[in-house]
Amino acid sequence: MLKNCNCGELTGRRVGEKVTLAGWVHRRRDHGGMVFVDLRDRGGITQVVFNPRTSREAYEVATSLRNEFVVQVGGEVVLRPDGTENSKLSTGEIEVVAAEAVVFNESLTPPFYINEDVEVEESLYLKNRYLYLRRPRMKDNLILRHRITKFMGDFLDAQGFIQVETPLLIKSTPEGARDYLVPSRINPGKFYALPQSPQQLKQLLMVAGVEKYFQIARCFRDEDLRADRQPEFTQLDLEMSFVEEEDILNLMEELLTSLVKAVKPEMEMITPFPRLRYQEAMDRYGTDKPDLRFGLELKDISDIASEVEFGIFRSVVAEGGKVKGICLPGCAHFNHHRIAELTEVAKNSGAKGLVTIALTGESLSLSEVKSVIAKYLTVAEMESIVSRFGARSGDLVLIVADQASIVNRTLDELRRHLAPQLGLVDDNLLNFAFVLDFPLLQRNDEENRWEPMHHPFTAPREEDVPLLDSAPGEVGGRHFDVICNGCELGSGSIRIHICQFQEKIFNLLGYSGEEMAERFGTLLEALRYGAPPHGGIAIGIDRLVMLMARAETIREVIAFPKNQNAVDVMFDAPSHVSQSQLDELNLRLKHEVFDGS
Ligand code: AMO
Repeated sequence: MLKNCNCGELTGRRVGEKVTLAGWVHRRRDHGGMVFVDLRDRGGITQVVFNPRTSREAYEVATSLRNEFVVQVGGEVVLRPDGTENSKLSTGEIEVVAAEAVVFNESLTPPFYINEDVEVEESLYLKNRYLYLRRPRMKDNLILRHRITKFMGDFLDAQGFIQVETPLLIKSTPEGARDYLVPSRINPGKFYALPQSPQQLKQLLMVAGVEKYFQIARCFRDEDLRADRQPEFTQLDLEMSFVEEEDILNLMEELLTSLVKAVKPEMEMITPFPRLRYQEAMDRYGTDKPDLRFGLELKDISDIASEVEFGIFRSVVAEGGKVKGICLPGCAHFNHHRIAELTEVAKNSGAKGLVTIALTGESLSLSEVKSVIAKYLTVAEMESIVSRFGARSGDLVLIVADQASIVNRTLDELRRHLAPQLGLVDDNLLNFAFVLDFPLLQRNDEENRWEPMHHPFTAPREEDVPLLDSAPGEVGGRHFDVICNGCELGSGSIRIHICQFQEKIFNLLGYSGEEMAERFGTLLEALRYGAPPHGGIAIGIDRLVMLMARAETIREVIAFPKNQNAVDVMFDAPSHVSQSQLDELNLRLKHEVFDGS
């Protein structure tokens, strides 16, 4: 090795040792005839002192160093002089007095700071990803990710799971997004799909008798991208035979709690994980993945609103809509500017507007209740609304009246927007929770058909099976989600393991016999050969690492992510391919998008 210790491990206990370090120049300072270099490697940072009286040669080398040069330094570990210790560094007690120095490589000036975690334009940090990853925070994220996946593998191994790799070139497995397709040269005109998840494959592994499977699985989905969505991402995918919901939920709770204790012991959790019914989550938070770290719960005032003179409220309720709101404690003082900002958030979520009620004084008199609706309401009606919200003097109530889905979406958005502003979010808390009792199906009104709430392999609740024909919308699914801090972390279910049942569900979803055979024939056939009862779950690893790293987006915890347009900016992919490559694949581009280069 060209080094015998790393830049993060030296402490006062190593004083007097002769060491050889190698790494990158993080920072260089000239001070009164001496050069100080913060030398960085994956382990951390060590201060190296180049004193011409110790070694003139090493000092000469040091004067030529620039940031990001790669150097090897040999020298002695000494205590830093009194008062110059740096408690922020693990090596802050000591420094290395250089006796020798070798420059392994020089570096161009990087296009952004590596030694300061200041914001960089996205295209720049994606293009120069290998430099951005040098930032200590990014390196820590990579290490954290490694520790998390390593822990998961070890934990599941100890529980009797085996890791099985499944293919990436498969047949389309619809999971709600578009597929990425790969043309086959050997089979002209035919395409593979990259898996949206190994869902059917893991179920086939259960039919194969694997019983407990897991995989750190790459998944590909051509869908709109967001802060927590990438076109390719990673799941901890697992499946078990002979299980019921509780078995999977208990396993998940044990895995996640022991993971956090082992890898991020400073972060807190609430155990046992809270459990919410789907409908309860929608009613109280307007979403099935609420951030439970703060309150701001939604209250439904549709019953009161239907009686008041304020026309919009009455008509919305009469047309089957909802009137709901949230109460912001101590926010009655919000000025026009803040209210306009909140109205903008509401409008961006599809609401037509936002009704506010500011309780500026102790009474509910017109002079103390600031609201456009105050003059349409009796004091008794205002009193019922205020008490429904538990609002007090000094509070601000925000109300949205619209179709239920818009009301819920808007209030969810407002909750997320406001909680950090109001200082309600505990950064150190990983508020895991389970959401249960989802409906099996949801209505797609535009296309006038039923869609699976999760995917078509989820089993219906046994007691609801008779409703499949008469009231499909009321059938409960054996589906569950793990959520954390407002993020859907994972989804799973007990699957259908009886072929006829699976066919029935496909029928309900509108698949013809032919489509069923074409798309799901293999699974249906397999279910006929003694498929065991089984179920499983997949946890989004990128999202879990993001939350544990307290990062803003999953791009911060993926080594080489794509941008919002699914472009790999570093390698410039996707890119044109040569005509001969297209010819080999028997492909001709429809439009003249091929520039021939
Ligand atoms: P689902 O589609 O809910 O379930 O995905 C499971 C988890 O994967 C993560 N995830 C994503 N992460 C980043 N970018 C994306 N585009 C993306 N899409 C999904 C989320 C999500 O909760 N086969 C089923 C699981 C099962 O039933 O066992 C599945 O894939 O964290």
